[in-house]
Amino acid sequence: MTSLEADRGAFKTPTLREVSRTAPYMHDGSLGTLEYVVEYYDRGGNRNSGLDPELRLLKLTDAEKRALAAFLPALTGATVPVPSSYSAVTDTAEGQRATARPAHGAARARR
Ligand code: HEM
Repeated sequence: MTSLEADRGAFKTPTLREVSRTAPYMHDGSLGTLEYVVEYYDRGGNRNSGLDPELRLLKLTDAEKRALAAFLPALTGATVPVPSSYSAVTDTAEGQRATARPAHGAARARR
């Protein structure tokens, strides 16, 4: 991530959006299913010198593991079609207002 020694072994935290479509998981694809990912976090990750202190033994019950593995696919869904008139909208406050509203061709054309 950076050239800092403290960041050795660190990876950008990925989005979980559409996660049930993006197996295998982790930077090296080492976890084939979301159930394996839940097991990985439950055991506090894999021991290594760069392990983040936030990763620790969770001791989830089987029901909690099942619930978590069932929740993750809920972050996947049909994509919302984006009208081509939004293609120039950037990540500005104005852009966010524009994307929050339905497309009104005439109103946008006057901008
Ligand atoms: C039970 C809690 C958690 C769940 C269910 C979870 C879920 C996931 C999943 C499904 C992935 C794989 C995404 C992919 O490969 O597309 C992932 C990766 C990742 N998560 Fe988590 N996560 C949890 C906790 C955490 C915590 C506490 C941290 C930060 C300390 C974290 C940081 C990361 C990072 C950096 C990656 C990328 C790892 C790599 O590429 O090797 N996650 N997580």
